[in-house]
Amino acid sequence: MKITTIGRGTIGGTLARLWTAAGHEVIELGRDGGDAADADVVLLAVPNEAVPDALAGVSGLHGKVVLDATNRMGVVEHPAPAGYPSIAEYVKAQTGGPTAKAFNLNFGNLFDQAATASSRPNNIWVGDEEARAAVEQSQPRHRHGTAQRRPPGERRHRGRVRQDPRGDAPRRR
Ligand SMILES: NC(=O)c1ccc[n+]([C@@H]2O[C@H](COP(=O)([O-])OP(=O)(O)OC[C@H]3O[C@@H](n4cnc5c(N)ncnc54)[C@H](OP(=O)(O)O)[C@@H]3O)[C@@H](O)[C@H]2O)c1
Repeated sequence: MKITTIGRGTIGGTLARLWTAAGHEVIELGRDGGDAADADVVLLAVPNEAVPDALAGVSGLHGKVVLDATNRMGVVEHPAPAGYPSIAEYVKAQTGGPTAKAFNLNFGNLFDQAATASSRPNNIWVGDEEARAAVEQSQPRHRHGTAQRRPPGERRHRGRVRQDPRGDAPRRR
């Protein structure tokens, strides 16, 4: 796949190195921005407060599959962009493409150890069904598995994860 990372630090830089070693074509972007028009998949891995600026600085994002690895750290000081309940939903509103929350539960500085871990680490993700292939193909190859889990209170609706207002465990349709 052609993968563009927005952010080339601990998460973006480490995944870029592993993806390149696995045969993907990777372009890494930072604060200087750039163009993602050629990408099959875009990884978003910048500090949460930088997300609006980071997206605004990259062209060619319309309709792209985005893997959002950001976490809302320091949420009191830097809440999600106003009007959006999560960064992923903000991202999707900007790009209009399939969006998945992925790689945000893995410690970036442990990715390299996945190759030698005694138990196979998983990448738990949630998001649009249309993003599944990108999530699965972007797993670092060495002993990394993939699993989709939805936390209680979320349910799937027409391929998208929605918050269940009843707060119940996910129900099968
Ligand atoms: N570190 C982890 O283990 C970990 C795990 C799970 C999730 N996360 C999440 O992943 C995200 C990235 O974390 P990280 O540890 O990889 O951060 P990091 O090492 O500090 O790297 C941050 C990257 O974001 C870029 N950046 C900062 N401000 C920007 C802006 N305004 N526009 C465009 N790019 C900008 C930086 O660009 P330059 O290269 O130009 O400086 C840098 O490449 C965060 O949301 C974090 O919560 C991190």
